[in-house]
Amino acid sequence: KRTVLSGIQPTGVPHLGNYLGALSNWVKLQETSNPHDDLLFMIVGWHALTLPQDPKELAASRWDMLATLLAIGLDPKRSIIFHQDHNQDHLELGWLMNCLSPVGKLFRMTTWKSRIATSRNAEESDVDESLLNAGLLTYPSLQAADILVYRATHVPVGEDQTQHLELTRDLAEAFNRTFKSDCPLFPLPTQVDTPTRRILSLKDPTAKMSKSAPDVRSRILLTDTPSQIQTKIRGAVTDTILGVTYDPNKRPGAANLLNILAACTNEDVGVVAARYESKGHKELKNDVAEAVIELLRNPQEEFARIREERVYLVQVADDGARKAKELSNETMRHVRDRLGLC
Ligand code: TYM
Repeated sequence: KRTVLSGIQPTGVPHLGNYLGALSNWVKLQETSNPHDDLLFMIVGWHALTLPQDPKELAASRWDMLATLLAIGLDPKRSIIFHQDHNQDHLELGWLMNCLSPVGKLFRMTTWKSRIATSRNAEESDVDESLLNAGLLTYPSLQAADILVYRATHVPVGEDQTQHLELTRDLAEAFNRTFKSDCPLFPLPTQVDTPTRRILSLKDPTAKMSKSAPDVRSRILLTDTPSQIQTKIRGAVTDTILGVTYDPNKRPGAANLLNILAACTNEDVGVVAARYESKGHKELKNDVAEAVIELLRNPQEEFARIREERVYLVQVADDGARKAKELSNETMRHVRDRLGLC
């Protein structure tokens, strides 16, 4: 039996990187799962609090994210879809994970290091400490708890989460070793990749596409209109070399577009690249824009419909939280028992 689990932060509309790197895989795993596999997909409100959030916007984003997950094809009859912040078990196990996490390891997390980099002041010297809270540092141990509290075995995420998954396995091992019983409590979860595990920024193809980059033209949002998509793809940074080849190191911009196209058409990127060998960037960009518009058409229509159905959304979230708690309560009984907290 597999337990598939993943999460996304409710900070704004998801972008194409979230979709191709993770969300599309959630739907695929739902479709290919065995009837007795457990599938859990959550919206991680507590993780969002590590950065300043406007309460009104956060409240709206949480519901929009739930509507998005349903719009892309997650089925609440098959998958447990819920808000992380509806289940306190994450926090209890999160505290234990903090107690098992060496701080040195947390300081070495690339997400923490990139936070330090972005909180340096203009002279690139001092760190603005008011931007660095303890939640940012312990973010990965809460993520480990999210995963382990359901004893998940498979976690579909993009490449930027690899280090967090490694930490999760380390913590699971540490717990299993320290609090031994007849059998290890936590399975070591495996990361499930998509072929497009890292979608790059359209404006700076050395960086990943991200929600927080200041230039909005660097990302395609799931709610972008066809003309916005066309404009953003046409403005994507490529290079001046003639013709199109797939070379992620030397030509990351073009490679990113080819990856996006291959993901949209469900083809191998090499096959797609061969079609553009004697063509130009302009033609490639036109085709990528068309393919992305087509890919997002159905989810966008569904999203517009479902986001208005608040009663249904509340029911899905309540139902999801109840089912999630049934699973996590069981884990926590074992955890408390092994710790001596009973
Ligand atoms: P978040 O909300 O930043 O992103 C959600 C998912 O999108 C993937 N992703 C990308 N994939 C490819 N290319 C990109 N440019 C790109 N940008 C984002 C992310 O890898 C992620 O899979 N820490 C997590 C949320 C989380 C979680 C969990 C995930 C909390 N607890 C437990 C799995 C299991 C995050 O911030 O995702």
